[in-house]
Amino acid sequence: RPRVLSGIQPTAGSFHLGNYLGAVRQWVALQESHDAFYMVVDLHAITVPQDPVELRSNTRLAAAQLLAAGLDPERCTLFVQSHVPEHAQLGWIMNCLTGFGEASRMTQFKDKSAKQGADRATVGLFTYPVLQVADILLYQANEVPVGEDQRQHIELTRDLAERFNGRFGETFTVPSPYILKETAKIYDLQDPAVKMSKSASTPKGLINLLDEPKATAKKVRSAVTDTDTVIRFDAEKKPGVSNLLSIYSTLTGTAVTDLEQKYEGKGYGALKTDLAEVMVEFVTPFRTRTQEYLDDPETLDSILAKGAEKARTVAAETLAQTYDRMGLLPAK
Ligand code: TYM
Repeated sequence: RPRVLSGIQPTAGSFHLGNYLGAVRQWVALQESHDAFYMVVDLHAITVPQDPVELRSNTRLAAAQLLAAGLDPERCTLFVQSHVPEHAQLGWIMNCLTGFGEASRMTQFKDKSAKQGADRATVGLFTYPVLQVADILLYQANEVPVGEDQRQHIELTRDLAERFNGRFGETFTVPSPYILKETAKIYDLQDPAVKMSKSASTPKGLINLLDEPKATAKKVRSAVTDTDTVIRFDAEKKPGVSNLLSIYSTLTGTAVTDLEQKYEGKGYGALKTDLAEVMVEFVTPFRTRTQEYLDDPETLDSILAKGAEKARTVAAETLAQTYDRMGLLPAK
């Protein structure tokens, strides 16, 4: 079985719809066909300031949501990044292979550091993509299911894998991004020019999966469309409507063309009312299941402990080989 690896940051509150449609949904599907490793990246989260108590509870919350979304610990390896120390260790090695200019070109760093202010942005934030490289290479992943905003980091991973292999001999699998066109980028419901995100979206444009379903329905019904009336997919001319069609299509498994037919001659109101209902049907059980996992922290922690143990076996082997290839003297 080919291998996949991906990660998600523990964030306050809950995952948003973009996280789910862009990434987590694919994680659930791929556990059936792939040897799958998925993790909550707490070491990535601390590249910006975190409250210790909240970080701990957000990490559990993230794991609970992944299970609620359909990850099955019998079918995939689910773990917390900091439970596997090899991530930080290979991260250092990768830092020593990355050019300063190369790291400086990462657009996510530019965006995030601009938001933080140059003096507040940490060196950790700067080398964030390099830690992500280590995450992926440790597991010899063939594919990395992510949203479009992560593509550049996968490119960096490929470059560094090839560089290491070229310099020290075949060691790492060169991974490919696994990005589905339809859901690569889910947009803000109020401003379909920008991607949905915790930091950039207005509260009304951001669908948090754990919000009150009623509030979520309301956000969908008040989504921005355009002054035209035709329900047609056209990402350039009708970004708002197209975003709603992508979301609708993915959540219901209905082709966009079928939706266009279904809503022929009907107004935007009908589309939004129906999508609001679809959304409520999706988030309601998701909330319940997440709460069930949170109510049983012992089970949750033991799932994560088993996951970390499995992950470590793979990660340790890759790291040992990497150390050896580079000429680090083994400890006796
Ligand atoms: P993070 O936590 O920001 O996001 C998790 C996943 O959600 C996707 N995503 C979106 N997809 C479509 N539309 C959107 N509006 C949207 N917003 C977010 C992201 O592309 C991502 O796949 N650096 C990563 C975490 C990471 C990682 C890794 C990923 C760390 N190590 C190794 C893959 C492999 C991040 O911050 O994702």
